[in-house]
Amino acid sequence: MGENLSFLAISFLLLSLLSANEDKSIFILAGQSNMSGRARDYNNTKPPEFHPNPQILMFDANQRWVTAKDPLHLGIDVGRPVGFGPGIPFANALLEWDPCIGTIGLVPCAHGETFLSDWSKGTPHYNQLVIRSNASSEAGGRIRAMLWYQGENDSLTLQNAQLYRGRLEKFITDFRADIGMPDLPVFVVVLASGLGKYKDKIREAQMGIKLRNVITVDGKGAEVKPLDVVHLSLAGAIDIGKRLASAFLYANL
Ligand SMILES: *[C@@H]1O[C@H](CO)[C@@H](O)[C@H](O)[C@H]1NC(C)=O
Ligand SMILES: *[C@@H]1O[C@H](CO)[C@@H](O)[C@H](O)[C@H]1NC(C)=O
Ligand SMILES: *[C@@H]1O[C@H](CO)[C@@H](O)[C@H](O)[C@H]1NC(C)=O
Ligand SMILES: *[C@@H]1O[C@H](CO)[C@@H](O)[C@H](O)[C@H]1NC(C)=O
Repeated sequence: MGENLSFLAISFLLLSLLSANEDKSIFILAGQSNMSGRARDYNNTKPPEFHPNPQILMFDANQRWVTAKDPLHLGIDVGRPVGFGPGIPFANALLEWDPCIGTIGLVPCAHGETFLSDWSKGTPHYNQLVIRSNASSEAGGRIRAMLWYQGENDSLTLQNAQLYRGRLEKFITDFRADIGMPDLPVFVVVLASGLGKYKDKIREAQMGIKLRNVITVDGKGAEVKPLDVVHLSLAGAIDIGKRLASAFLYANL
């Protein structure tokens, strides 16, 4: 009798662990350096928005779910000076504003200095994105959205700027099909300042995208690092993370 009871208790525990795992809300992070993270904690204050939390996991370079900590893209955005980005502030804001959300899983996939054409179907970055996305949900959880922050490099030439909208629509459509989620929500951060001559064309392209469940989040006004100008500061990364979290909760998808 006692043995049966403890067997039941253990099965119940295993089942609930299993279902907690199944319920994990997974977010795919992709794009360029601003999504990867380039901010530095110069004075070592670690603002609370970046604090690790046992409820925030990351799918690391070895395809294991581990407690998330910056730099999230270590071993993924290889050969670049990875730092603090919007991923953990996004997750911390979700936990704060939606206490019922459960465990959050971040899947870092961004690569600095990439053009959108580096992400088209069949390229190495695209293939990695599909493989990591699939593997992350197979290891427990449901993909809730992709967060996309890219465009700076395509703002350098007129041709890439003109092709941007069509390429982005195709990329999103291909990605959704290849992970078997045709309605996957995608949150696109709209490029703000930037150095490229054609940044306004990229902004228009991003805001003009005509696919269902694609939501744009304006990056305007987010703080950049004073001495570098092309990358978000710690405050800027927090700002973008919170804007993405609020857009996700508001969209209620
Ligand atoms: C430390 O960094 C934070 C965040 O970047 C900033 O707000 C603060 O002013 C800095 N403090 C000092 C003493 O530099
Ligand atoms: C991408 O853009 C950045 C910043 O504008 C620039 O430094 C870099 O050289 C560009 N990458 C390529 C491959 O042109
Ligand atoms: C990814 O998952 C989808 C849906 O399960 C599947 O159809 C596809 O073959 C997988 N692709 C890879 C590369 O694992
Ligand atoms: C990063 O974001 C900032 C703020 O929106 C923007 O000024 C900058 O151009 C972006 N840099 C890249 C490389 O996308």
